[in-house]
Amino acid sequence: MFRGFGGLLSLPVFGLALVSAGSTTAFAQHFTDRDTLAPVYPSPQSVVDQMLTLAQVQPGEMVYDLGCGDGRIVIAAAQKFKARAVGIEIRREVYERTLARVAMLGLSDQVKIVLGNALRYDLSPADVVTLYLLTSSNERLKPILLRDLKPSARVVSHDFEIRGWKPVTTHRMVVDGHAHMIYLYRIASQPR
Ligand SMILES: C[S@@+](CC[C@H](N)C(=O)[O-])C[C@H]1O[C@@H](n2cnc3c(N)ncnc32)[C@H](O)[C@@H]1O
Repeated sequence: MFRGFGGLLSLPVFGLALVSAGSTTAFAQHFTDRDTLAPVYPSPQSVVDQMLTLAQVQPGEMVYDLGCGDGRIVIAAAQKFKARAVGIEIRREVYERTLARVAMLGLSDQVKIVLGNALRYDLSPADVVTLYLLTSSNERLKPILLRDLKPSARVVSHDFEIRGWKPVTTHRMVVDGHAHMIYLYRIASQPR
C-alpha cells in the first residue's frame, strides 16, 4: 500500500482527520472542499533540500511552492540557493504563521507568501514549481502548468507523481525509516 504523507494515506479516514485538522468534521470539510489539494503535512527538510538540488535551482531563479505550508521550501530556496520564491497557501492560519516566519528571518524581499488557491494563480514567472499534493490534485494542476510554464521550467513533486508525464529523473530516499520519492519533470518534455 502507498504511504503518502508519512503513512497518513494508509490510515482510515478518521486517522487522517486527527492529524490534519483535529476532528472528523474538519477532515470532511477539507476533502469534500474542492479547493483543498492536500492536508497540512510538511516535507522533511532533507527531502526539501534534495528537491531543490535535483531541480538545479540557480541564484535569481523563481521558485513557486503550490501549497507552501510552513514555508520550508521557499525559505530553503532563498537561503540555500539564493533564489526568489513565492509560496501560495490556502489556509489563513498557516499563511499568517508562514508570513511572520519569513519576516522574522529577514527574507521578505526574496520570499513572497500569498494567501489563496494555487489553482487560480498565474504561474508563468516560475522557473521551478514544487509540489507535495495528492496525485488527483496534480492531475488538476496539469493543464495549468502546461498553460503557464515556459519550456525550460521544472516541476518537482514529493511522493506524488504527475500521471502521464515523463520524469527526467526520480529519486528515492529514506528519512527516519520512511521512504520518500521525488519526481523531477521538465515542461519541454511533456505531452500537450
Ligand atoms: C502536504 S502540505 C505541503 C507543504 C509544503 N509544500 C511542504 O512540502 O512542506 C500541503 C499544503 O498545501 C496547502 N493547500 C491545500 N490546498 C491548497 C490550494 N488549493 N492552494 C494553496 N494551498 C493549498 C495545505 O493547506 C498545506 O499547507
